[in-house]
Amino acid sequence: MRTICFANQKGGVGKTTTCVNIAGILTTQKKKKVLLVDADPQCSATTYFLDPAMNEDKTITMLFGKEPRPEVNIIHSTRIASGNSRLDLVPGGYTLGGSLTEIAVIPNIGIRLRDFLKNHENNYDYCLIDCPPDIGFFTMNAFMASEDILVPIQPERLAVWGVAQLVERIAFYQEVNPVLKILGVFTSMFQAQFKSQKEWNEEIKMMFPNNFLGEIHRSALYGKAWDQSKLLCEMRVKTERPYRELVAITNKITS
Ligand SMILES: Nc1ncnc2c1ncn2[C@@H]1O[C@H](COP(=O)(O)OP(=O)(O)OP(=O)(O)O)[C@@H](O)[C@H]1O
Ligand SMILES: [Mg+2]
Repeated sequence: MRTICFANQKGGVGKTTTCVNIAGILTTQKKKKVLLVDADPQCSATTYFLDPAMNEDKTITMLFGKEPRPEVNIIHSTRIASGNSRLDLVPGGYTLGGSLTEIAVIPNIGIRLRDFLKNHENNYDYCLIDCPPDIGFFTMNAFMASEDILVPIQPERLAVWGVAQLVERIAFYQEVNPVLKILGVFTSMFQAQFKSQKEWNEEIKMMFPNNFLGEIHRSALYGKAWDQSKLLCEMRVKTERPYRELVAITNKITS
């Protein structure tokens, strides 16, 4: 199993949207077995599949108690399946965000997600982790559990500047998890008609000459899909640019 997390401390840059949709494409088009982990207490990824007001005993919350509870099944099947391939979900935990100060002092709490995923590594081809918009506790757990990081970056001044800080933090975690690396970055919500966005897109390419994966343009289709809690792979949009762009990035990740 290859574990890839979607991270950027900047909020609203498209982490969840790309994470869930790439998970869908890996399952339906690449015929892979995929585990999607919602590591964000906002639970945005979860809402594509389940009511996040569900019983917290069946969510990622179970991983972060005083003692780990490996006997509790927190993996849910989703409607996304095709032949032998399937997309399973570890739902996010709404209440986790509020109890961080208590959780943070528990010994070895930073590797709970890694230990959990180790127990399931033979059941999946890929694990995709959706991180919250910070480099705090849950992102740390994701960095400890992952080998690859994907970073969506909006082509704007503050967003691009913030990436330097992210890269610095990743370097810190690489010391404790030596397999961790930035697999790729991509420009998100790109509006090529704006000169400044084009310039920032070029800046992003220059910052990451070896692992720039491409652009995802802004499209109303994402809002439409989100309103219906649907992934793009479930809609009749396979010839449209948003879907093609996601497939292109998925191809680069899997090649
Ligand atoms: N390419 C796109 N075009 C248009 N809208 C988009 C695109 N990507 C994401 N969005 C919309 O932007 C909003 C934020 O996206 P998303 O939730 O994926 O960001 P995020 O980085 O996960 O946010 P957070 O940091 O809060 O977790 C959502 O309403 C989503 O539907
Ligand atoms: Mg998100």
